[in-house]
Amino acid sequence: MNAPFRFTTCRAGSEPVLKRDIASHFAGELAPAFMKPQFITWKVRSPGFSPPRTLSTFARVSGTSLGLCKTIAEVVDHARQLTSKPFRLHVFPRLTNEDGVEAAEWQRIDAIQAEITLELLQAGVQLETRLPYAHGDLILDVIVGETDAEPLFLGHHEHQNGSHIQPGGLPRISLPQDVPSRAWLKLEQALAWRGWDQLDLRGQTALDLGCAPGGATFALLQRGMDVLGIDTGEMDERVLQLAIAQGVRFDHWRTAAGRLNLTALPQEPALLLCDINLAPPEVLPQVARIQEAVQARRLILTIKLNTPALEDRAHEFIDSGQPAGDLRVRWLAVC
Ligand SMILES: C[S@@+](CC[C@H](N)C(=O)[O-])C[C@H]1O[C@@H](n2cnc3c(N)ncnc32)[C@H](O)[C@@H]1O
Repeated sequence: MNAPFRFTTCRAGSEPVLKRDIASHFAGELAPAFMKPQFITWKVRSPGFSPPRTLSTFARVSGTSLGLCKTIAEVVDHARQLTSKPFRLHVFPRLTNEDGVEAAEWQRIDAIQAEITLELLQAGVQLETRLPYAHGDLILDVIVGETDAEPLFLGHHEHQNGSHIQPGGLPRISLPQDVPSRAWLKLEQALAWRGWDQLDLRGQTALDLGCAPGGATFALLQRGMDVLGIDTGEMDERVLQLAIAQGVRFDHWRTAAGRLNLTALPQEPALLLCDINLAPPEVLPQVARIQEAVQARRLILTIKLNTPALEDRAHEFIDSGQPAGDLRVRWLAVC
């Protein structure tokens, strides 16, 4: 029998679109039950209904709810009833901000994780810690509230190929002070989400559409990539300085993406990045045209969903970005 409740976590402010998205796909089948900032549980209404593993594009993590636990002993009890096989343990904060989770908060979470791990091991429960993750690996999610007085929320989900492995979908990366823009963080988070942060990209080429003032380019240069940036705007001078210091190449073509001479672009770049601040209906055809010409091996696309109407069209935009037959290329919606 299916568990009667599911849970979802999301970024701050995405709760309304998450609710609309789930309502539009599972109307009558899933009803919102318990809500806290960045966290919603869902009652499965009909016993025969089996929701898909991932409930929404806007959910960072979704899975089956096991409920609230006031003590770690309760967490251990639930875990023992869940399975006799080894599982992975993900402990993460419910509340996050746009610049990542602060180091002090991770310290608090890590202390709780250490306590849970110890009690699980003492109870004879086996934890899986080997890498890489395999499709179907069972993950126990422990979501920690704002204060230690708040009960822990417990749920579980199965790892799926291509989904992130960081607990809560939260890579432990924070924005350095001396980078040209927040796009540095967005790019590093996107790489981590796909596991591409582990690749050796030195000497490979990236094409960065909408590159100014240069946070993302800066991150790519730090990784030893050569970058061709496209933007009518000006680059931060630290970008050129870094390219010289790293001994890598940075070229800046000050033109609009729609005006590019496609035949002059590098072929099969390791990465095509697009962070143009225009609405998706304008940007997507341009990216598709450029991707068709260059055949980039990986693609990271920032979709600007800055109105509810655009948010509600997210699936349409993401689906339009699935290049049929080329599994090397993944489209990533960073909302
Ligand atoms: C959010 S900013 C990009 C931030 C940048 N990725 C970074 O790492 O700092 C959006 C950029 O898109 C650029 N842009 C807008 N329309 C464009 C177009 N048609 N072609 C290329 N760039 C464009 C803007 O000039 C602006 O610099």
